[in-house]
Amino acid sequence: MRHHPAGVVVITADVGGRPVGLTATSFTSVSLHPPLVSFYVADSSTTWPTLRRAGVFGVQLLGAGQEDVATRFASRGADRFAPPTVWSPGPDGVPLLDGAVAHLVCARHDARMVGDHWLVIGEVTHTLVLADPRPPLLYHRGGFTTVASREAEHHRER
Ligand SMILES: Cc1cc2nc3c(=O)[nH]c(=O)nc-3n(C[C@H](O)[C@H](O)[C@H](O)COP(=O)(O)O)c2cc1C
Repeated sequence: MRHHPAGVVVITADVGGRPVGLTATSFTSVSLHPPLVSFYVADSSTTWPTLRRAGVFGVQLLGAGQEDVATRFASRGADRFAPPTVWSPGPDGVPLLDGAVAHLVCARHDARMVGDHWLVIGEVTHTLVLADPRPPLLYHRGGFTTVASREAEHHRER
């Protein structure tokens, strides 16, 4: 899996007035009609027992430069939503992290155990995309990276 580059997202939810969230690379699209997306969360996750109670969750597609956010939302013991994290409630009260390239808000569609992970499927109800998105934050070979923007490639070719 080290050789499979993956986009980095943070899954968030509001559960009884308390924001919860964790970093994930297992995010993917599932279906267009209806619009379904999915992620996997380890059964051993200490966030999952709370997150599993959420009927709605958010997906933040992180951009290049948000390595610190990805690391904080993967750190046990950290207050992930305390400063320097900047966030605000979005549609249906879902916590949205500032600076993400795009946000999805999803209604929980299904969750089932597969091996030692839970496959969580959500139906996308809202999408918010930055007007001028940065390149994405990727995880590859055990570290964070990104891709060269098309504009940069274009200038290099000229
Ligand atoms: C780049 C990266 C990707 C991750 N992807 C996943 C994932 O897809 N699923 C998962 O359960 N955990 C993933 N993790 C680990 C979670 O963030 C993990 O749940 C967290 O480190 C432990 O905190 P928790 O007990 O609150 O879950 C990833 C961590 C990093 C740094």
